[in-house]
Amino acid sequence: MKKHKKLIIVLIIVAVVAVLFVIFGVPYIQRHFIETEVNEQEAAAMDKLDLGTDRILTVYFTRNGNCDFENDVDAVSSASLMRDGDKLIGNCELAAEMVQNAVGGDVYAITTVKKYPSSYSGTVAEASDEIKNDELPELSGQLPDLSKYDRVIMIYPVWWGTIPKAVESFVKSCDISGKTLNVIASHGGSGKAKSVGDLEDASGASVSGEVCELYDKDAATASKDVQKWLESLE
Ligand SMILES: Cc1cc2nc3c(=O)[nH]c(=O)nc-3n(C[C@H](O)[C@H](O)[C@H](O)COP(=O)(O)O)c2cc1C
Repeated sequence: MKKHKKLIIVLIIVAVVAVLFVIFGVPYIQRHFIETEVNEQEAAAMDKLDLGTDRILTVYFTRNGNCDFENDVDAVSSASLMRDGDKLIGNCELAAEMVQNAVGGDVYAITTVKKYPSSYSGTVAEASDEIKNDELPELSGQLPDLSKYDRVIMIYPVWWGTIPKAVESFVKSCDISGKTLNVIASHGGSGKAKSVGDLEDASGASVSGEVCELYDKDAATASKDVQKWLESLE
């Protein structure tokens, strides 16, 4: 009888855990595989803000455009991506649009010669290999002329708790050490983790002010938070 009682208790616990997993766990995991429909223009709408006389360059890295899914948009069911009609938009890409709409300046997208896999898990595995092998991916496109800017606003997704290796490639190719450096770190729950220290080590620049942490699930509706953060910058 005692044995039966124990078994029933265990079964009840397993059932409760299973129900909680279906209610909370599955949507949490799936957030990386479900696109969010957005109206890009509305999502990136901002109030104009004058950051003084700074000549501003917003630099971002995002999966969109650096993964192998450009020609196969309909087949993409992918992590942390937004879609406006046929157009896919990465979280950091949208954040860069928000920043530029508010403070103006130029925008530079970091792009790599190699393309990361279209699947989220494929990119996660590739990024893990890059970190293990300390591999700096070759960048494509022309690098910006940093002498034209006083302030760099760096926007990146946190990858494995740190900056993507492509961002490391960028800061090791472009000297941002004398600039005012501000950071938006987009993430899926870990926050900025150790990315800021790693960015500072790789670039030789110090990050000014608060870091804006952008949770990927909220990227489409982050304009007010980004606005507030921009207003806090000196
Ligand atoms: C390779 C890879 C590694 C990631 N590692 C982390 C991580 O360590 N912590 C975290 O919170 N999110 C992590 N994420 C989630 C991304 O940081 C998050 O979804 C981000 O908003 C993606 O921005 P994007 O759409 O501009 O690429 C990772 C995503 C990828 C693709």
